Amino acid sequence: MTQIAWPSSDHTRIPCDVYLDQGIFEKEQDLIFKGPNWHLLGILADIPKPGDFTSTYIGTTPIVLHRAHDDSINAYVNSCAHRGARVIRALRGNNKYPVCPYHNWRYDGTGKLTGVALEQGIQNKGGYPDDFDKNCHGLQTLRIETIKDVIFGTFHQQTPILRESLGKAIYERIEHICQRKLRVVGYQRQTLPCNWKIYTENNRDVYHAPQLHTFLGQFGVAKPVDRVRVDIHGAHSLLSSWLPESDNDDFPAQKGRFELEDTSILEGFDPLDGLQLSIACLYPSDLLSCLRNNWILRRIIPNSVDKTDVEYTWFGYEDNTEFERECIKKQSNISGPAGYVGMEDAEIVGMIQNAISKGDTSYIEFGGAAIESSSDHMNSEGTVRAFWKGYCESMNIPTP
Ligand code: FES
Ligand SMILES: [Fe+2]
Repeated sequence: MTQIAWPSSDHTRIPCDVYLDQGIFEKEQDLIFKGPNWHLLGILADIPKPGDFTSTYIGTTPIVLHRAHDDSINAYVNSCAHRGARVIRALRGNNKYPVCPYHNWRYDGTGKLTGVALEQGIQNKGGYPDDFDKNCHGLQTLRIETIKDVIFGTFHQQTPILRESLGKAIYERIEHICQRKLRVVGYQRQTLPCNWKIYTENNRDVYHAPQLHTFLGQFGVAKPVDRVRVDIHGAHSLLSSWLPESDNDDFPAQKGRFELEDTSILEGFDPLDGLQLSIACLYPSDLLSCLRNNWILRRIIPNSVDKTDVEYTWFGYEDNTEFERECIKKQSNISGPAGYVGMEDAEIVGMIQNAISKGDTSYIEFGGAAIESSSDHMNSEGTVRAFWKGYCESMNIPTP
């Protein structure tokens, strides 16, 4: 692994090697993804019935989130205890007792080994010894905790409980979101041409939104606001903006040079308690965000040093009206992989990775110094610096 020269002690300058080095990528798997951090795995509505499962990753490790036959919620590494084959190969489905395709070892949804093919051999020939204990050969399971409908998992026994780990503001925002039963609207996924940390920075980067995503202001998707809040807890951050008390729907820019042929994407309904924007960036790599009526859970999955997969779960409420459901689906064309905003971010993160890998720059700049735990403006890069501070602590990187 490259020895990295860290150019500043306040996390305002990030050396490019951390986005490029294979050794660092591998170390991140152990110290961050398998380290003492929580990972968003899904919502209860992903797996409503006993036997339901979804497949995902934490870092590069394949994971299954499974509601077992006994209705318990479990997560385990999707790697057979025998030789390591994938026990579950589908993205999602229902299977109470998955069977490994290689030698037919059989598990239940808790990850427990329940059956071994030819355990007694055939006609008492061969098989496993009498002291072979199936209880000692289950799948590697994760520690699970939920905040109402939202499910988290961690590999590490030392990870502090969620309330402590995420901090009050994020914990309470998730509780608030879950005040009604959640419903899955749909799933999407995309692959971005960048290191996972560049996309993670992009999500925390409030500075770029008005500059890059001019569509938002142009067409009144995000309205000028007087009530904004940024909360930082450790390496997590929560950005919130609420609609102004008196709402003015007249956006002159819509009637000028740029007009939409179909304006139905702008239709919406009152957002949850006036929250027009809520972006919870959870360290290391998950997002729970809302723009207008569009709630998304995003899982950022490092695929390789310069490729990152993003899994989207769009969700709403069980009791949404038909009109609300239609609005939510339409609005996915803003933040989704092919959305007005999503495409701009995808283009930009690829440009950054390209510049870094060609050596056009030797460090990435996040100006300013302080990391305020809360503020009433979004004119700072403190959220990104907080990420990097947490990253250096996780990776045992001493900064000068
Ligand atoms: S690898 Fe799974 S049963 Fe052999
Ligand atoms: Fe963006």
